[in-house]
Amino acid sequence: MLASLLSFLSVIARKFTPESIMSAQRERTFIAVKPDGVQRGLVGEIIKRFEAKGFKLAGMKFMKASEELLKQHYIDLADKPFYPGLCKYMASGPLVAMCWEGTGVVKTARVMMGETRPADSKPGTIRGDFCIEVGRNIIHGSDSIESANKEIALWFRPEELTSWTQANDSWIYESNE
Ligand code: RTP
Ligand code: MG
Repeated sequence: MLASLLSFLSVIARKFTPESIMSAQRERTFIAVKPDGVQRGLVGEIIKRFEAKGFKLAGMKFMKASEELLKQHYIDLADKPFYPGLCKYMASGPLVAMCWEGTGVVKTARVMMGETRPADSKPGTIRGDFCIEVGRNIIHGSDSIESANKEIALWFRPEELTSWTQANDSWIYESNE
């Protein structure tokens, strides 16, 4: 009885860390610098834009993704003629998988990335500034909150994601959500 009470209390204590009490976790998205972005030395440039915007990094890993992982990641495009080539391109070299956090980050990241086709992307966007072809468009970003949650769970184990308090939080947000 006492043991189960203690274990219940420890679960509660772990759930309500000082951080979770101070601020609820904001929306998260999955961003990847694709293999062409890595080969072209654009990792720092892309991270710089998300940092400068005010978004907070919650997880990041440099890795070579397996074709199985990539097939799962792009499963919604499985019937497209470019699907096999897309998976091959994404597996062709290391990529940087990231989880970024912030209010409205899913939608805003897509705006920052530009359109799927670089030719339709405005200057000032990542694809508008740094690439030319749709099959070499250097960055991935989740297209909805639902796919963000699925993709984060696919690419990261829970312990690979970090909740932390950004020192300049109150200079980025008017109020804590
Ligand atoms: P992503 O998932 O990589 O962030 O790109 P997206 O949402 O802007 O575009 P999506 O329709 O999800 O397509 C995924 C990736 O497939 C390649 N693609 N090739 N050859 C083609 O017509 C074509 N269309 C799409 C691109 O690399 C695109 O980012
Ligand atoms: Mg997509």
